[in-house]
Amino acid sequence: MRRYVIAGNWKMNMTPAKAQALINEMKPLVAGKDNCDIVLCVPAIDIPAAIEAAKGSNIKIGAENVHFKASGAYTGEISAEMLVEAGVEYVVIGHSERRQYFGETDQTVNLRTLAALNAGLKAIVCVGETLEQRELGYTETLLKFQTKMALTNVTAEQMKNVIIAYEPVWAIGTGVTATADQADEGNGYVRAAVAEMFGADIAAQTTVQYGGSMNDKNAAELLSKENVDGGLIGGASLKSAAFSAIVDAAQ
Ligand code: PGA
Repeated sequence: MRRYVIAGNWKMNMTPAKAQALINEMKPLVAGKDNCDIVLCVPAIDIPAAIEAAKGSNIKIGAENVHFKASGAYTGEISAEMLVEAGVEYVVIGHSERRQYFGETDQTVNLRTLAALNAGLKAIVCVGETLEQRELGYTETLLKFQTKMALTNVTAEQMKNVIIAYEPVWAIGTGVTATADQADEGNGYVRAAVAEMFGADIAAQTTVQYGGSMNDKNAAELLSKENVDGGLIGGASLKSAAFSAIVDAAQ
């Protein structure tokens, strides 16, 4: 009913030459693993090299951010049109690191999501609670709020191109993974928010990933959960063996 998506998020790692080498290493390891979509979201400057390296394989290339304006005086930013012309198919939006370090808000996440979708990109929209919010008991409220804010003015038709990644902030890059039940629960809140906005059918068809210290050891258990339809993977996407093992777990 809905498709698994295993996506790497390289963050600020890998030069273009290293990107090419890593993708060449990964290609044979993930070849024919077609039970999920396989995506690598890479730094903007790596995009041409990554697309070249991934050509003819089942690896799709994504960006890590997109600006919400079509063009203009926004020094340092990259538009959806630029990404599309470069051959990018996916883009990560609203990652917690961007929310934390680069002033990303629920409103700009929404604007970026709309810009990406209107350009025909697939949006991987990130939501997630901090440890403090979890301990205060606000996880469900926060996840539903972030999800609904991000998807405001998105059409039912465009939801086909939306993937949501539930990434508890306390689990990102910390080595602390949410338990499979916590991941399932968080993803369930996200899906419930989608259902409240778009109805049960669209919610049932929407891919909701888990992200936060997913690796080759814990992927199978996380992916076995009803509401976990894939992963957004940071650290483990920088190693071909670990990433391909996660792809294997999604088969
Ligand atoms: P991590 O990062 O797998 O290194 O925890 C996940 C993410 O930030 O998307």
